[in-house]
Amino acid sequence: MRDSASAPSLSSTDGPLQSDTRSASVQLPVNVKGLKLSLKGPAGTVDILKNIDLSIRAGERVSLIGPSGSGKTSLLMVIAGLEQAQEGTLEICGQNLRKLSEDGLALFRRHHVGIVFQDFHLVPSMSALENVALPMEFAGRGDAFERAREELTAVGLGHRMDHYPGQLSGGEQQRVALARALATDPELLLADEPTGNLDGNTGETIIQLLFDLAAKRGSTLLLITHDEGLASRCDRSVTMRDGVIVSTGESAQ
Ligand SMILES: Nc1ncnc2c1ncn2[C@@H]1O[C@H](COP(=O)(O)OP(=O)(O)O)[C@@H](O)[C@H]1O
Ligand SMILES: [Mg+2]
Repeated sequence: MRDSASAPSLSSTDGPLQSDTRSASVQLPVNVKGLKLSLKGPAGTVDILKNIDLSIRAGERVSLIGPSGSGKTSLLMVIAGLEQAQEGTLEICGQNLRKLSEDGLALFRRHHVGIVFQDFHLVPSMSALENVALPMEFAGRGDAFERAREELTAVGLGHRMDHYPGQLSGGEQQRVALARALATDPELLLADEPTGNLDGNTGETIIQLLFDLAAKRGSTLLLITHDEGLASRCDRSVTMRDGVIVSTGESAQ
């Protein structure tokens, strides 16, 4: 249902970056207070996020858990600037997302966040290399392909760069998606059940890569998962139920 809305900003027509919008030292890359999101469904307006407070410190790894339908993906979409909340404070990587236009949000995503989805969201008609290079090309980087080669090599896919998504296994496709998410060196890495479509061993490899690469770059990580073992490997777990956060794990402040 959300596929078109949740696709990364790959089809944006924005021009090259005007200036570097990355904030040097944001203490709380996620600073959310009193956040409310309602969406219109077939049966009228539904309150999806009811009163969310969530702070995540720079470099922290936080898992987001909770039953299906509790609002995890919706919260991630709001934090990514892919869904617009109606009420509350929404400061992400030092930017007040509630004040940004659609173009501003696209620019924000391109420079501050990387997103990994359960079903990869790769462009089927593009090679692995082109998929990874695309967001950097949109960002006007002249070294997009060179960087894409480096990122694909870092995820162990140096030998598959010219393959199309349909010629890659699920685990390989997720590696491409991970390379794409990290290529712009985002402060905040968002992952929505990134191993949900993978078998156990393949999923473990992806998670190890995700943790390693996020740590190497000092990225802050928000990871939605159903896997309690995986959740416990993060610095803390935030639990959602019915559109509210019912537990924030260890005290962050
Ligand atoms: N586009 C939409 N319009 C209306 N309701 C939606 C939409 N997307 C999701 N929902 C509803 O929002 C609630 C939370 O969904 P979601 O954020 O996907 O939960 P989770 O990721 O925890 O499974 C669910 O009740 C779902 O049916
Ligand atoms: Mg979900």
